[in-house]
Amino acid sequence: MLKLLNVSFHYPGGAGVNGISLELRPSDFALLVGRTGAGKTTLLKLISLELTPDAGDLTLEKFRTSSMKDAHKPLWRRRLGIVHQNLQLLEDRSVLENVRLAAICEPNLNHAKARALKVLSRVHLSHKIHSYPPQLSTGEQQRAAIARALVNEPFLLLADEPVSNLDALTSAGIIDLLHHCSQSGMAVLVATHQPERFESVKPIVYKMDDGRVFRQ
Ligand SMILES: Nc1ncnc2c1ncn2[C@@H]1O[C@H](COP(=O)(O)OP(=O)(O)OP(=O)(O)O)[C@@H](O)[C@H]1O
Ligand SMILES: [Mg+2]
Repeated sequence: MLKLLNVSFHYPGGAGVNGISLELRPSDFALLVGRTGAGKTTLLKLISLELTPDAGDLTLEKFRTSSMKDAHKPLWRRRLGIVHQNLQLLEDRSVLENVRLAAICEPNLNHAKARALKVLSRVHLSHKIHSYPPQLSTGEQQRAAIARALVNEPFLLLADEPVSNLDALTSAGIIDLLHHCSQSGMAVLVATHQPERFESVKPIVYKMDDGRVFRQ
């Protein structure tokens, strides 16, 4: 489904990622681990096309970055669900609105709302749909961001540090939720510096160090 071959990217200051190759198949649950600054977020941004590689090739199903037209980028992005490291929820919109507005695959407003309600129920947030993000706990905000990422039924879910600010119990609930996504056929790629929290789901582990990746 997703394949990276020798992907490199460097920021103007010189930091970045070097010669990354990895592959994800449907239902894979993979971790991207490594200390701060190792390049985890950068790699997720390359996969979501937020950054353009300097070299190498990314393939997602029939799309290939090295030969892809700009017009195809939205089709690529539509296949992904992204949970950002800083969540990026709209603070002046309710939880329901945050999720509904992301439902770009559903132009009909009522259908988009129904889809948002369904996915919010799946992450156990039905009782908070009219709250605003600042009124939620950190774990609830994380679940709202996951609901938003799931609303278009992506093939691949990218989650950047989804459990880093959570206590053990809340973290276990989020991991369970992400694991269910992979069991339903989605590929899930999680950046984390706490891989021990994920031991129970037996993930594939890609370790990043100094912009390089090694499969464990
Ligand atoms: N916009 C940017 N401009 C220049 N350098 C950047 C930029 N974003 C990240 N970097 C640098 O690229 C390297 C990798 O950063 P990245 O955010 O990918 O690390 P990370 O593994 O996600 O770290 P963390 O665990 O702290 O989230 C770091 O050295 C960082 O300083
Ligand atoms: Mg990061």
